[in-house]
Amino acid sequence: MSSTQSNERQYPLKRDTLASARLNLNHFWMKNLAGYLLHPKIPTNVDNFRLADLGAGTGLWACDVAAALPNASVDVVDISDAQFPPDAFRPRNTRFWTHDCFQPFPPEYLGQFDAVNIKFMLCIVNDDVADKLIENVLMLLKPGGHLQWFEPLPNTVRHRGRTDKLSTPACDKLMAMWKKPAPQSSYNWVHALPKLFESYKLQVIAEDRHENPDYYMQVVAQSMFLGQLEHFGSAPGVEEQAEQLQDEFRSGAMVDVVWTCVVGRKAL
Ligand SMILES: C[S@@+](CC[C@H](N)C(=O)[O-])C[C@H]1O[C@@H](n2cnc3c(N)ncnc32)[C@H](O)[C@@H]1O
Repeated sequence: MSSTQSNERQYPLKRDTLASARLNLNHFWMKNLAGYLLHPKIPTNVDNFRLADLGAGTGLWACDVAAALPNASVDVVDISDAQFPPDAFRPRNTRFWTHDCFQPFPPEYLGQFDAVNIKFMLCIVNDDVADKLIENVLMLLKPGGHLQWFEPLPNTVRHRGRTDKLSTPACDKLMAMWKKPAPQSSYNWVHALPKLFESYKLQVIAEDRHENPDYYMQVVAQSMFLGQLEHFGSAPGVEEQAEQLQDEFRSGAMVDVVWTCVVGRKAL
């Protein structure tokens, strides 16, 4: 399959080594924060358990699951293979391929998966296309299969730390960016994920919220610092904003969001 098919939106982040390192940092952070890779309510002790990770990025989440479930087979899918690991370093029970997840999947994949995972697609999904993505993705699931979706909740963005009322302009700006990084960004769908699942007849079996403890705030700050530089690239003032954010963090101020993991089960 080609990696040159059209996407609904341009990918606003990068795919270089630093971008991959940020995704991998986020992976270990989220794995520890949630305490699971696949939600414990998703049964994995079924014969020939087949899992797909869509928009997989570096594929580290999928490789981690594949290593933990050696009898499972794991399809690792992204529109681009730029961040995939070399063949030599992929677990033997993984298969990496490229596909635009907004486009129909080839017939041989339809109804084949016990579980599908999607994590951090927020940056390319707006309210107007969330339905289309979920509809397309559901075609992959077997009856009774599970869809797990992990995202930050932009409306939960809040100041953490310092309470001395000194101004923190970089944190204020970061708060605004979380809510609307680009004029066309619209994230109501992510806050309504359980409702969206239900509208597609998925039974919601988990709706977890994961909040960072204080001692994770340095990871939050590092990830958001790198994310800002990556997202806003060479736009005027970006480096100054990132530097100021670091200074504010050193003085004890930061911005944080809650993460959610929603799991739905397709009807039998
Ligand atoms: C923010 S990254 C998240 C990667 C990974 N899920 C993770 O949690 O580390 C978003 C990923 O979605 C991929 N992507 C963007 N548009 C896509 C599309 N239309 N179909 C499939 N993948 C897409 C990007 O290439 C990128 O790897």
